[in-house]
Amino acid sequence: ISLKPYNTFGIDALAKHFITIHSIDELKHALSLENYPDIFVLGGGSNMLLTKNMDALVLHLNIKGISIISEDENFAIVQANAGENWHEFVLWCLDKNFGGLENLSLIPGNVGSAPIQNIGAYGIELKDAFVSCQVLDKKTKTLKTYTKEECQFDYRNSIFKQEEKGKSIICNVTFKLSKNNHTLHTSYGSISNQLAEMDIINPTIQDVSQAVIIIRQSKLPDPKKIGNSGSFFKNPVISKENYAILKENFQDIPGYPVSETEIKVPAGWLIEKAGFKGKQFGDYGVHKEQALVLVNYGNASGQEILELAKLIQTTVKQLFNITIEAEVNII
Ligand code: EPU
Repeated sequence: ISLKPYNTFGIDALAKHFITIHSIDELKHALSLENYPDIFVLGGGSNMLLTKNMDALVLHLNIKGISIISEDENFAIVQANAGENWHEFVLWCLDKNFGGLENLSLIPGNVGSAPIQNIGAYGIELKDAFVSCQVLDKKTKTLKTYTKEECQFDYRNSIFKQEEKGKSIICNVTFKLSKNNHTLHTSYGSISNQLAEMDIINPTIQDVSQAVIIIRQSKLPDPKKIGNSGSFFKNPVISKENYAILKENFQDIPGYPVSETEIKVPAGWLIEKAGFKGKQFGDYGVHKEQALVLVNYGNASGQEILELAKLIQTTVKQLFNITIEAEVNII
């Protein structure tokens, strides 16, 4: 079958064998099918670039369900299964007035993929509300719980992108959410500006979500209309010394300190400065409103987009001597 409807980049790669999984039992069963030694797990397909057809058995993880595990006056412990759509889960929380995930509104993808890259936006990361997740070991077919510490979360990173890569499958994720006295994160410039524009002085978590939705819709292409995987690259972290040198040549280079010695530079700025913002090459290109996002306008191949990504990487390296790494998984 064509995987085009199953990846937000809209790449028309083919899968020879494809099974939709609705429960952990079905997953265990599929993992024991002997004629398929190679298995590829597909969640929301929102953080990958398919560059070839798949020989592996594709398991489309579609395990649904959200439940409140426990709650007291102040907090709710909520578990969501891997196949729940992330944004629908955030909306479910907002409907119950559970706070903690509102800044992560409108992020494409599913709940089960969110811990892998520790999704983050507008001053919040998944790890801030994360309690644990249950994963199925592909080999032993047993379930194991990973605590927050065990997940080793970092910027767009976790153990599931490192040692555990390809070894285990996240089946559900548990969060601790506030029921009142919500801690709001509105200091990210664009959020405070957006709230001001909406004439909101004392925002609710629902207002913060609305502000994030408006900002994202103005900058990021809707994958239903234009194929994309959000930020294609990670924002690079460089030394203060190197930043100071660059600042001499590029006075307007933005930078955010991440430690005593290091500065994070927006890759979007580097790519824009390198002249790629809004550039279109046939059916693919760089998004007009946000240079960090590569787009498929129709029938681009994964290889074409990968070539563009490499061209951007070498140009940025030549201009700024900065290596930018892909954030998206290249398959
Ligand atoms: N910028 C430009 N030109 C551009 C884009 C950005 O100059 O075309 C510069 C501007 O200086 C701007 C700064 O970059 O102020 C930051 O831009 P933005 O707020 O859009 O954030 P970002 O660093 O480009 C990151 C995440 C996004 C997340 C936003 C908001 C990464 C790789 N990306 O982007 O995440 O939504 O912050 O928190 O960290 C994603 O991972 O798919 C994603 C969309």
